[in-house]
Amino acid sequence: MTLNVQSVRLEKELADLAIISAIPAPAVERIVFSEHDLHARAWLKQLCADAGLDVREDAVGNTFIRWQGTSPELPAIATGSHIDAIPHSGRFDGTVGVLGGLEAIRALKESGFRPKRSIELIHFTSEEPTRFGIGCLGSRLMSGALDPACDTTFRDNEGRTLREVRTSAGFTGDLSSTRLPVGHYAGFVELHIEQGPLLEKRGVPIGIVTAIAAPASLRILVEGEGGHAGAVLMPTRHDAFLAAAEIALALEAAARSTGAIDSVATTGVCEVFPGLVNSVPSRAKLEADIRDIDGSRRDGMIASLETACAEVAARRGVRVTIEVVNRDAPATCDPAIVETAAEVCRANDIPCDLMVSRAYHDSLFMARICPTSMIFIPCRNGVSHRPDEYSSPDAIATGTRVLAETLARLAS
Ligand code: GLV
Ligand code: MN
Ligand code: MN
Repeated sequence: MTLNVQSVRLEKELADLAIISAIPAPAVERIVFSEHDLHARAWLKQLCADAGLDVREDAVGNTFIRWQGTSPELPAIATGSHIDAIPHSGRFDGTVGVLGGLEAIRALKESGFRPKRSIELIHFTSEEPTRFGIGCLGSRLMSGALDPACDTTFRDNEGRTLREVRTSAGFTGDLSSTRLPVGHYAGFVELHIEQGPLLEKRGVPIGIVTAIAAPASLRILVEGEGGHAGAVLMPTRHDAFLAAAEIALALEAAARSTGAIDSVATTGVCEVFPGLVNSVPSRAKLEADIRDIDGSRRDGMIASLETACAEVAARRGVRVTIEVVNRDAPATCDPAIVETAAEVCRANDIPCDLMVSRAYHDSLFMARICPTSMIFIPCRNGVSHRPDEYSSPDAIATGTRVLAETLARLAS
C-alpha cells in the first residue's frame, strides 16, 4: 500500500494542540471540561470537518469521528485516545493516538483506499483522573464498567457534580445513553507512546500490546488528634501525617516485596490538615495508585496495605478509612489484531516486539466490548507525565503508518 503519512502536518498539529494549555510550554495541562479542553475539542472537530469526516458526540463528550465505509451497516473498526492532560505533563500522551489516528485516516483517504467497514476515530473524555478522581471516564461509561449514577455522585474539587460540569460544557442527555453494546465495533486499536523505556533501549520502533495491567486507586483518610506543636508532648501524640507516612512506606514495601517487576505502587497525593507549621496534623488524606499485570498479585498488595493500615491505626491511636475508587481487571488483547499489526510490521520491514502495557488506557475498557490491541512507539528515556516527554517525528510517523495499515486490513 502506498501511504503518504504527512509527518510535517502531524507534527504541526501536535505542536498546535500542545499550546492549548493552562500552563506555559513545554508543560501541558488540559483538564477535562476546562476552558482549554473545550478549546482543544473545538479545534479537533474543525480538523476533522476539514478532512471531510462526520462528527458525533455523546452525553459525556466522547467524540466519534467517522469515515463511512462501503458497507456502513457492518460494525466499524475504531481507533483513538485522549487529549486531556494532567498538570505538568507533556504533549504526546494520548494526543499521538488522536492526531495520529486522524492522520492515519487522512493518509488512507488520500491514497485512494476505500474501507469496507467504516473507520471511526474516538476521542475519549477524561482518560486522566485529574478532575473526577477516576481515569477512563468516557470509556468506562461506553463499556458499561461505570454506573451512570456517577453523574451526581462524582464531584470535582470545587464540589461541582459531573452532571453540572458536563452540562455547562454543553454535553447533555442521560449518561446511560453513552453505553455501547458488545459488537458495536468489530475492533479497536489505540496508538500511544510507550511511557516506558523498553522500545528505546532495544532500538525497536514498534510495540504491539498483548495485555494491559490491572490498575487500582484508593483514597485513605487518616484521622488523628491535632494540637499545639509546642505544647502537645511526644508520648501523647496521635499525629495523622506520621501515620499516613508509615502507610505510604508500607505500600512501597508491599510493591517491592512481591518479587515481580510488574508490581508498582505510588502514593501521589498527601494532604495534611490543618497544614500549619505550628499545629500537629489532625487529618491526612492519601491517594494511592497500585498496579500489576497480574490482578491477584495487585489484590495482594491491596491486602498488605489494609493490614498495614490496621496495624498503624492501632499502634498510633488514629482512625484509618480506606475507600477503593477503582479496582479494575487487567485486559487481554485480541490475538488476531495483534497478529494483523505484526503482519503490517513484517510487510514493511519494521521490527516490532510484543509487550504489555503497564500504563492504563481507554483500551483497557474497549477490550470489554470489542477485540482490542494497542500500537506503542518509543519515547525518549521512557519519560511520560512530565513536560520533557518526547517522541520523535520519525517514531510518530512510523506508528501512524502501522496504525493506518492495520486499520485498513481490519476494515477490508
Ligand atoms: C494513564 O495516564 C495512566 O496513569 O496509566
Ligand atoms: Mn496519561
Ligand atoms: Mn495516555
